[in-house]
Amino acid sequence: MESDEHLRRNYEYWNRQADLWVVGGEASWARHEPTWGIFGVPESTLRLLPGDMRTMKTLELGCGTGYVSAWMARRGAKVTAMDLSDRQLDTARRLQRVHGLQFELVNGNCESLPFEDCSFDFAISEYGAAIWCRPELWLREAYRVLKPGGMLHFLGCSPWVSVCSPASGELPLVERLERSYFDQHVHDWGDEGVDFNLPISGWFRLFREIGWEVLDYLEPRPATSGDERRHHVTLDWGYRYPAEQVWKLAKRGVSGTLCAQKSKHNPR
Ligand SMILES: C[S@@+](CC[C@H](N)C(=O)[O-])C[C@H]1O[C@@H](n2cnc3c(N)ncnc32)[C@H](O)[C@@H]1O
Repeated sequence: MESDEHLRRNYEYWNRQADLWVVGGEASWARHEPTWGIFGVPESTLRLLPGDMRTMKTLELGCGTGYVSAWMARRGAKVTAMDLSDRQLDTARRLQRVHGLQFELVNGNCESLPFEDCSFDFAISEYGAAIWCRPELWLREAYRVLKPGGMLHFLGCSPWVSVCSPASGELPLVERLERSYFDQHVHDWGDEGVDFNLPISGWFRLFREIGWEVLDYLEPRPATSGDERRHHVTLDWGYRYPAEQVWKLAKRGVSGTLCAQKSKHNPR
């Protein structure tokens, strides 16, 4: 695949899909207590948002309809939310007006951020850059724009998801090993876009190369089993196996002084 091919495909996919995410986006904007991922695991279990956000400058990477950013703005954070799809951002902008809540919306690619080095305290992605961007690119960019000690939390598919995705392409996930665990990286889902994942050891290696410290790793689980389907997975499957992963990372290894000296905008 050409290096930018996934961007074109994902841009088209998400603009095509945007109308289907309006109802879910409205419900999530209306919710004041966050729930996360395809199983709606409560914030009290995952603790994806810092306790006190009142002095924080925060960035959401791949914000979709913008509800995670709305939750952060309501907690007093100064929020910037970025997304590749202009149509998803149209919904976010409309919901800002409906809820009387303003924060910065930026249209662009999270693999190349238009922000200064060391300019945010906290970054987050829930199924945004977390799965739709090349890990080698967006994780370097997130590191660059965070202040020393800043944290990145992201939630996306577990590497088990592609392993148990039927080779036929027919979902939901099955209880069989259908694809390579170790060779996963680029997942081309045809009309449904291109996403990315790594084996756990691959994530660890990449974090170490960039300078991230791993603070925690979680595997969100639905509260109950059942045959109800959520996107690509049933509750039964998600209750038995990890369908999602959460990484909590901190930017270490860069002193504040170095950060202040090196204010080169987007070094690549
Ligand atoms: C599933 S939504 C995530 C938002 C929300 N948390 C949710 O789960 O609905 C995925 C979003 O990632 C965005 N996206 C895909 N590739 C991207 C990229 N390279 N840069 C920024 N956003 C991207 C899509 O446009 C889409 O709005």
